[in-house]
Parts: sequence; structure tokens; C-alpha cells
Amino acid sequence: MARVPSPPAILVRDLRKSYGEVEAVRGIDFEVAPGEVFGLLGPNGAGKTTTTEILEGYRSRTSGIVSVLGHDPEQRARELRARVGIVLQSSGMYRHIGVREAVAHFARLYPRPRDVDEVLALAGLTGKEDALARTLSGGQARRLDFALAAQALCDRVAIVKEGRIVAEGPPASLGASSSRYRVTWRDEHGELQAREVEDPTALLHQLTSAALARGAALQDLHVSRPSLEDVYLELTAEAAVEEAELHA
Ligand SMILES: Nc1ncnc2c1ncn2[C@@H]1O[C@H](COP(=O)(O)OP(=O)(O)OP(=O)(O)O)[C@@H](O)[C@H]1O
Ligand SMILES: [Mg+2]
Repeated sequence: MARVPSPPAILVRDLRKSYGEVEAVRGIDFEVAPGEVFGLLGPNGAGKTTTTEILEGYRSRTSGIVSVLGHDPEQRARELRARVGIVLQSSGMYRHIGVREAVAHFARLYPRPRDVDEVLALAGLTGKEDALARTLSGGQARRLDFALAAQALCDRVAIVKEGRIVAEGPPASLGASSSRYRVTWRDEHGELQAREVEDPTALLHQLTSAALARGAALQDLHVSRPSLEDVYLELTAEAAVEEAELHA
């Protein structure tokens, strides 16, 4: 007999929120199952806090359907508020603690955290473990945000950009769903080369035949698909470029 699926803990359908002229959330849909860890990732101003605060009952929505544990959060039912835990974004919160400390601290909030060193390595923060968060460069700080928020801890993430979900799924699948491959290798002068291609077949053939013709081994050959982190940083970079164009 088929099991009756339990109703989602969170259900969001065509959620929209405008602040005057600003359309902060432009039609977002997602569901979160009971016990599932779900994350929203995206560049500044994408609409993450707006969405989250609507779910918490701290902001009203312009339109759409929202249900949290069976309640409409806008009604601010006492029963619902007693069951929702909130950790504030407060950007200053982890500035004065070390990178490893911050990751370890956040890991304790989750039922199945990944190993802290694994998370640091995934986020490209190896070597920065002991640095105080406030001493990180902008890019490194973004990596820390990423380490705290996503791939390491979530069952599923949605990447939000300009008020819409642009990608969604288990962290590992998002990177792999990208159609591009990254091929890196060392050329005959020992210089590291990198190329991104849709299909690496021809490039690999060209590289290996050239190396064979030289009678040399192809050094440091590496073929990979972009990770979720790459996809995320790319989206963030695109947004930064658009912003720069806007100001130009
Ligand atoms: N109270 C408000 N009044 C007017 N505009 C707002 C208000 N709050 C947010 N916005 C605008 O709505 C958009 C989404 O903001 P939001 O805070 O939801 O983004 P975010 O994804 O949480 O960004 P960040 O990563 O910087 O925290 C932005 O353009 C922001 O300027
Ligand atoms: Mg925010």
C-alpha cells in the first residue's frame, strides 16, 4: 500500500513581495519536507531575507500562498511562533571569531553536520582556519558565508537571484547539472592552463595527441564539473557585473 506522504513543513507558491517600486520577490515556489534542511543561497539583494521573514511572520507578502507547519505565518498564530526557531542574519555576529570556530559553531545547529575540515576545504578556506572572520577579504568572506550556509549542511538548496529561484536541488546535483566541464593541464612550458567546454572529448583528444607527439606526459590533467560553489560564485559575479553596468 502506498504511504501517505506527510504534508510539507513549508509550502510556498508564487510568492511575491514588492516594496513600492522594488519587486524583491518575483514568484518563488518551493516546499520543504519535515526534517529536511533547506537553504536559500544568492547574491545580496536577491530576496532571501524577504522570503525568510515572510515565512517567520515578520513581513507581509504582496501575493502568493505560504504555509508553515500548517499555518499562514501572516496570522502570527501563537502556536506557530512557539515552534519556529530563528537565528538572525546579523552580519556582525561572527566577525570577531575565527573561521574554524564560526563553521564549528554553525555545524552544531544541524542534526547531521559535515566534518568541519571538509567544509573548510570545500569552501576553499584551507589555510585560513585561524584567521578572524573580519580579517578576510571580500571574496574570502563570501566563501565563509557559503561554508556556513550551504553545501555542507543542506539536504537541498535553492539559488535565488533577483527575486526568482534560478536553480534548485541537492547541493551535489546542482554543480553536476551544469553543462560545462573544466579542463586544466600543464602545457609544454609548465604553465597551468584552464579551459571550459561543453564537451571535453575533442579538447582531450587534442591535448593527449599533442603530448604523445612530443613524447611527453600530460602533466596535471584534471577534468571537473563546476561545483555548487562555482555555480554560486558565478551567479554572484554576474550580479556584480550587472550592478557595475548599472552604475556605469
Ligand atoms: N524594508 C524594505 N524596504 C524597501 N526595500 C527593501 C526592504 N527590504 C529589502 N528591500 C529590497 O528588497 C530586495 C531584496 O532584499 P533582501 O534583504 O530580501 O535580500 P537578501 O537576499 O536577503 O540580500 P543579502 O544577501 O544582502 O542579505 C533588495 O533590493 C532590497 O533593497
Ligand atoms: Mg539577507
